[in-house]
Amino acid sequence: MSKTTNMKTLINIGITIIASATMVSCFNDKKPNYQYFPNMYEPVGYDTYGEYEIFPNQQEAMTPPENTVPRGFTPYDYENSTAGLELAKAELKNPYEVTEENLTVGNQLFTIYCAVCHGDKGDGKGILATREKFLGIPSFGDPGRNIVPGGIYHVETYGLNAMGSYASQTNEKERWQIAMHVMDLKAALNGEPGILETSKASAAVDSTAVETNMPETNTASE
Ligand code: HEC
Repeated sequence: MSKTTNMKTLINIGITIIASATMVSCFNDKKPNYQYFPNMYEPVGYDTYGEYEIFPNQQEAMTPPENTVPRGFTPYDYENSTAGLELAKAELKNPYEVTEENLTVGNQLFTIYCAVCHGDKGDGKGILATREKFLGIPSFGDPGRNIVPGGIYHVETYGLNAMGSYASQTNEKERWQIAMHVMDLKAALNGEPGILETSKASAAVDSTAVETNMPETNTASE
C-alpha cells in the first residue's frame, strides 16, 4: 500500500464520520423530519374546508348547485303550514313495512327525542310537561288531534309551534320508525291492539282477498 492511498482512506473515513455526525446532530425527535416523497403524506386532492385560490371565496366547501339534492335524500313536498299538515295527514303514507325491528328503533329514538315532552307513553306527560317548561303538549290518544302517520312525519320534519323540527337529527327512515312507535303508543292509549298485530291482521285479509298465483314477494333483492 502506498502512502497516498493510505492518506485517501483516512480522509474518506474522516468525511464519513463528519457527515454522519452532522446528520445525527440535526435529528430532533420533537419535530417532524424531512419527508422523502411528501405526497405519501400530503393529500393530492383538496382538503375538506381547505382554502385554495381556484375556488370562489377561496373556499373548498361550496354551497350545492341549485335544484340538486344530496344523495339518498327525497324532497319533501308538503308545505310547512296548517294546510300542508292537513294534506300530509290525509294522503302521506308510511313507505316502510311495520316490523318488530322498525318499532324497536322507533321506540329508542322516541325515548331520545320525544319522551321528554310527550312522555314514554305518549300521554303528553313527559318530564318537561310535568315541570311546566312546555305547555299544550297533547296526548297521542286525543281524538281531536287525529294522530296519523303522515301527520306525525310532517311535524317531525317541520316542527309545530313550540315543538321543534327533528329533520337535522333524524333521517327519513328514522322519522317513519318513530311515527310507527307513536301509532303504537296511540293504540295503547286507546286500549287497542298494537300496530304490528293490526298490520299483520290486515296483511292476512289482503292475501286472502287476492287469491292469485303471485310470485313470492320476499325474494326480491334488497
Ligand atoms: C319541546 C317539547 C316537545 C318535544 C321534544 C317533542 N314535541 Fe311533539 N309536540 C309538542 C307540542 C307543544 C305540541 C303541540 C303543538 C301545537 O299543536 O301547537 C306537539 C305536538 C305533536 C304532535 C301532534 C301533531 C298534530 O297533528 O296535532 C305529534 C304527532 C308530535 N308532537 C310528535 C312528536 C315526536 C314524534 C317527537 C320526537 C321526534 C316530538 N313530538 C317531540 C312538544 C314537543
